[in-house]
Amino acid sequence: MEVSVNNLQKGFGGEAVIKAVSLTVKEGERVAVIGPNGSGKTTLLRLLNLMIFPDQGSIELAGKKVTGLGVREARTVRRGIATVYQSHNLIPRFKVINNVLSGKLGSWSTSKALFSLLIKPLEEVGVREVLEMTGIEDKIYWRTDRLSGGQQQRVAIARALFQDPNLLLADEPFASLDPRSGEKLIEILVGWSKQKNKTLIVTLHHLEFALANFPRIIALKNGTIFFDLPTGQVTPERLQQLYGDDHQGA
Ligand SMILES: Nc1ncnc2c1ncn2[C@@H]1O[C@H](COP(=O)(O)OP(=O)(O)OP(=O)(O)O)[C@@H](O)[C@H]1O
Ligand SMILES: [Mg+2]
Repeated sequence: MEVSVNNLQKGFGGEAVIKAVSLTVKEGERVAVIGPNGSGKTTLLRLLNLMIFPDQGSIELAGKKVTGLGVREARTVRRGIATVYQSHNLIPRFKVINNVLSGKLGSWSTSKALFSLLIKPLEEVGVREVLEMTGIEDKIYWRTDRLSGGQQQRVAIARALFQDPNLLLADEPFASLDPRSGEKLIEILVGWSKQKNKTLIVTLHHLEFALANFPRIIALKNGTIFFDLPTGQVTPERLQQLYGDDHQGA
């Protein structure tokens, strides 16, 4: 899914958080979004997945303007977008399988969704497949709140993949994972994007991960694009300027 953002602005309580951001991410492209705490990364992702709406500017997804859509239309667009949040938004009391299945609830009929949830989980084979990809298949029938934070994050990533989205947004998805697990899961997301030619946009504080796995880096600072460069052109000096002296508080 191509993402095209033009002159986007968003503020909270009169304070601008995203200021005049414009960018285009092509179908199948992989982009890491970096920047200091409070620079607007999460806000940008929430604008892209239509959880919040901009004050000004426009967003086009797959060539269709999505700013100004009604609730119902916005819901339809959201089905094609999966988001992995840092706080993974899983339902604690649910079994892992039901949390993963909830990735598709948006596109299932109410009766199918209820049957799957209350009587017998449907599409177990598909669920096993994504849990295998994220290395947590052995916990498919565990209650989610019995898993460690990192294990839950694997479930959240599995749920996003199960949704089979055209655009995958991930907000610091590896924060609760140990370095090796983080690396493995990043490879899974990147592999998924390459293989299926799907767009992947990930915010990352771990610069090494960003530089090693993404061909393009967008840096946000104070709500504006500080640089938007092919990874080869991201120099230590530029990173120093990005995170440098006038580091914004979290
Ligand atoms: N719902 C909200 N209400 C008020 N202010 C908000 C809201 N959401 C975000 N902000 C403010 O917008 C700014 C940017 O926040 P955002 O979460 O986008 O930053 P971030 O780059 O994701 O930071 P971090 O690296 O810490 O995750 C912050 O100053 C934050 O306080
Ligand atoms: Mg954030």
